[in-house]
Amino acid sequence: MPRGGPDASCLDRLLWTDRSEYLDRSDVDPGVKRSVVDALNWTGRVFGSHEQFAAIALEEIAEVPDPSVLELGAGHGALATKLLEFHPSAHVTVTDVAEDAVAAMAAGPLGEHPRATVRVVDATSIDAPDRQFALAVFALSFHHLPPAAAAAVLAEGTRVADKLLIIDLPRPPAPVHVLRLATMLPLAPFIPFVHDGVISSLRSYSPSALRALADHAGVDIELRNSLFGPQIAVATRR
Ligand SMILES: C[S@@+](CC[C@H](N)C(=O)[O-])C[C@H]1O[C@@H](n2cnc3c(N)ncnc32)[C@H](O)[C@@H]1O
Repeated sequence: MPRGGPDASCLDRLLWTDRSEYLDRSDVDPGVKRSVVDALNWTGRVFGSHEQFAAIALEEIAEVPDPSVLELGAGHGALATKLLEFHPSAHVTVTDVAEDAVAAMAAGPLGEHPRATVRVVDATSIDAPDRQFALAVFALSFHHLPPAAAAAVLAEGTRVADKLLIIDLPRPPAPVHVLRLATMLPLAPFIPFVHDGVISSLRSYSPSALRALADHAGVDIELRNSLFGPQIAVATRR
């Protein structure tokens, strides 16, 4: 399925790449990967997206006392840190598939936080019993996965949690997407964060693709789109 969904236009279908982000490659210097994760953390701090994403997540569990939250693909752990700061009794299991990212989070304040558990988890095959969490959250990571793996995350996230919240890059209409790419491309060969940003943009899923993936996974999905904000989707078991 194209990233623009089954009904994607011809131009939209061209806006795709099979190249992997530095973050997903095993042949890349760990320092390059670290620079991408640090840049994500920095932009989240400067533009307030860690707080914004934490507020979106906490709204989903506003009615749940002492909620258990699973963060998948946490990268730097800043979202989990905000969740723990904003909610006085939530427990957060902070995870990523990348062992070095998990080691870095475990070596920092999250590793010592009494309401945090830090561990390696592959979002496509989650090592946890059914319904262990009130919420699973996967931020800025869903586009990393090809359709079959993305559908597996929808199935697994809604198996282990009552709700799976996906926050990701929006896939704009194709002409706007071309403009977005044109502003980024000149810097992509020089700045690893921009390199990964271009690939992320080309691999981002449209609302129609998210609906098709949810259908394939056999889960319900509610999409909350805004013109300039992130793509937000909440998946639940049928
Ligand atoms: C762009 S980073 C996002 C980091 C952080 N969530 C944020 O909002 O800035 C994508 C993260 O997804 C992780 N990831 C990729 N595939 C994954 C998988 N199958 N399971 C769990 N995490 C995965 C990567 O290791 C990386 O840390």
